[in-house]
Amino acid sequence: MSNGSETGGLTENKQSIRGNWGSRMGFILAATGSAIGLGNIWKFPYITGVYGGAAFVLVYLVCVVIVGLPLMMAELIIGRRSKKNPVGAFKALHKPRSPWQATGWLGVASGFVILSFYSVVAGWAMAYIFKSLAGFSGTGQQIQSQFGTLVAHPSASIMWHTIFMVLCIGIVIGGVQRGIERWSKILMPTLFAILLALMAYGVFYTHGGPRALEFLFKPDFSKLSAEAVLSALGHAFFTLSLGMGAMLTYGSYMRRDESITRDAITVSALDTIIALIAGVAIYSLVFNFDMDPAAGPGLIFQTLPVLFAETGPWVSVPFFILLTFAALTSGISLLEVVVAYFIDERGWSRKKTTLILGTAIYLFGLLSAIASLTIPFRGRDQGFFDVFDFISTNYMLPVGGFLTCLFAAWVMKESDRVAEFGSRGPLYKGLIFVLRYVTPVAVFIVLLHGLELLPFMDY
Ligand code: PHE
Repeated sequence: MSNGSETGGLTENKQSIRGNWGSRMGFILAATGSAIGLGNIWKFPYITGVYGGAAFVLVYLVCVVIVGLPLMMAELIIGRRSKKNPVGAFKALHKPRSPWQATGWLGVASGFVILSFYSVVAGWAMAYIFKSLAGFSGTGQQIQSQFGTLVAHPSASIMWHTIFMVLCIGIVIGGVQRGIERWSKILMPTLFAILLALMAYGVFYTHGGPRALEFLFKPDFSKLSAEAVLSALGHAFFTLSLGMGAMLTYGSYMRRDESITRDAITVSALDTIIALIAGVAIYSLVFNFDMDPAAGPGLIFQTLPVLFAETGPWVSVPFFILLTFAALTSGISLLEVVVAYFIDERGWSRKKTTLILGTAIYLFGLLSAIASLTIPFRGRDQGFFDVFDFISTNYMLPVGGFLTCLFAAWVMKESDRVAEFGSRGPLYKGLIFVLRYVTPVAVFIVLLHGLELLPFMDY
């Protein structure tokens, strides 16, 4: 596949290699695809359960608005202004040897690390498509133990991790329009349709619908802990793909005539709505069968399959396909951040970069796929999966987000910001105020929490 082809006959210079989205819809679907992922369908429902339901959901919604949305706009502004990968972007908007490029480096490193373990969970989702086809049977405990067997079995985990990485590489190698945009246009609408069908099933065909709605939307603030508030804030980051340059990179392929405000609102709103719909679908089942909403990370791979034994493959197969599609469109955005850096800054071809870096991430991911490999971390032996997940979510993304926010608010030229935002009106002033004083403070607190340095918390 030729690199320059997707930009439609431009001469073969660096700009033509970068590519851009073919349409506004293409960008919206790709960016929403990046945002909607395991974070929405696996993580959001289970942490909502752990933290007690609606009050947590409400705090999370506030975090999306005051932290997520402004930061997404900042990333899109930086990306589209510079038309560069995260490292190049900070240099282009500041100066060639700017220390701010370290923020970009951190982003590229985060993409590398996150994809390495994200691919392992995505692999489990794929494995469960086939387990669903075969049907879940046996006692509740037998069904739940299948998950432990899969995780403990390196050959199975490695096989699915391999398949997932091959899919990501295959799509990203196609480029911005012919790879990412084309596949997002197919996968995202399918995902929406499956999710709506599952929600309708949960609400209309089970008896758990009303309880699910109450659990998710009727807040009981006595259940809210400081820990829950901090997790809500941290999750807002992860679920919107912020703090590591994914939105920055996707923004760099955006057309000039689109409104960044409108697009950022659309992407954040879709991401949030999908998380809520997934919550309703999953909790309708959980309450219908009187299961524990606070089951934790195993909610999807251990609790749900017990319920799927009753509902049959008609519900479980679409569910795990949905999870796989969601993971795939996020996985490609993680890979694209790394790939964009090597294409822009090192002048490598897209094909060479995707193959080499994709393979490197795959090999690195083997550490996470082999559950029996452990290292001492925070006082005990832990698997690489947990270590990488912990480091990236608690340290790398918040640090990246914090620096990106400071850069956009205090360092970047006013004229550059205004050019991308489109006006200097009250909305713009509001955004800059939030980016200067609200978002960084909120992110800084999450970071202190990640480092276990908050004075009022019990660590
Ligand atoms: N937003 C994705 C999810 O919710 C994860 C992700 C994080 C993707 C950072 C890209 C960058 O699963």
